[in-house]
Parts: sequence; C-alpha cells; structure tokens
Amino acid sequence: MDSFLDLTTTDGRRFCIRPIQPDDRSHLQSGIQRLSPDSRYRRFHSARRNLSERELDFLTCCDGTNHIALVATAVDNLGTETEGIGVARFFRDPTDHQSGEIAIVIADPWQGSGVGLAMLTELKRRCLSVDVHRWKATVDSDNYAAIRTFTKVGQVIQSQSTDSRVHIEIDLKVQQT
Ligand SMILES: CC(C)(COP(=O)(O)OP(=O)(O)OC[C@H]1O[C@@H](n2cnc3c(N)ncnc32)[C@H](O)[C@@H]1OP(=O)(O)O)[C@@H](O)C(=O)NCCC(=O)NCCS
Repeated sequence: MDSFLDLTTTDGRRFCIRPIQPDDRSHLQSGIQRLSPDSRYRRFHSARRNLSERELDFLTCCDGTNHIALVATAVDNLGTETEGIGVARFFRDPTDHQSGEIAIVIADPWQGSGVGLAMLTELKRRCLSVDVHRWKATVDSDNYAAIRTFTKVGQVIQSQSTDSRVHIEIDLKVQQT
C-alpha cells in the first residue's frame, strides 16, 4: 500500500499510519463515537457524535495536495489493521497557498504514547512536499498536549488568544530543538 508506515508506540503497541481511503468511513464514524467527551470536544469544539454520509464522503476522499488526511490504525500480530486510533487532517488555505488548517485526534487509550507526534511528523513531511510551509490550528488554551505536540514539529510564529481558545501558526521549516 502507498506509504504505509509500520510503527510501535512508546509502550510497545504496533500501529500504522497511512493516507485515509474511502473504505475508512466506518473506522472514522466508530472512532468518533468511541472518543471521550473531553477528546471529542477538544477536537471538534462540539459534542457531536455522528457524521452525515455526505461528511463521510468528503472526509475520506482527499486529493493529497489541498486536502491531506492520514489515519493511524492498530495492527495485530498478523499485520492486520484492527481499529482506527487517530486522524490528522490538513486543508490548504485557498488565499494563502503555503498555509492551511490542521486538526488531529488520537483515541483516548492511545494518547500519550507517541501516536500524535508520529502522525504530525508524517503530515508535515507530506505538506512540505506540496509546498505547504505553515500550519494554523485552534486549540483550547489549556490543551497542553496539543500545544506541546504542535510545537515539536515546527516553531510557533504567531499565537492569538480569544476567550478560552488560542489560534496558533506554526512554521514547519523551522525545526524545534
Ligand atoms: C493532542 C493529541 C493529538 C496529542 O497526541 P498524543 O498521541 O497524545 O501525543 P504524543 O504521545 O505523541 O506526545 C507528544 C508530546 O506531547 C506531550 N504530551 C502528551 N500528552 C500530554 C499532556 N496531557 N500534557 C502535556 N504534554 C503532553 C508528550 O509528552 C510529547 O512530548 P515529549 O516528546 O516532549 O514528551 C492527543 O492528546 C489528542 O487527540 N487530544 C484530543 C484532541 C485534541 O486535543 N486535538 C487537538 C486540537 S485539533
């Protein structure tokens, strides 16, 4: 399969990262339903649990240039993908072609074990290859996990707070030390 990364979490669980495909509709829907209310809210800034058929079509059909989405899936001993454990997504800004919005969510039992950073590292590689240099993201001000993970893949060049959220812009060409 195209660019299938076979990886291991920091606590020894096997997973893979690959581009999302139309077949991933059920992974996506069930993955959102299994999220804790906290993770769902941090990702979607709402409590919604279901995606419409139209949304599922849109979210699983990416062009790899203006809309890039990766999934992480758990992999068993036989190498079979068993369940969706993460999604990272980029949308190019139509008015600023070297920039775009990103969002990510990792299934609760897999958080804190390196999956999020691995997904953003791969998303960054793909974005740079299509001339995207900057990401924008909106996170809750107290979402230290997200802020930490984003700042590991680039440098924060702008940060603006509104109410309880922070809008950050990250330069992907400046590698954090
Ligand atoms: C934010 C999120 C994507 C991070 O992914 P993850 O797989 O949990 O993160 P990783 O295990 O790869 O850790 C990446 C870095 O963040 C740090 N981190 C992880 N969880 C943390 C926490 N709760 N508090 C502080 N730092 C944390 C890790 O220590 C690591 O930094 P280090 O290498 O310097 O130790 C994940 O927690 C998540 O899905 N949260 C809910 C949805 C969300 O907040 N999305 C972001 C807004 S779109």
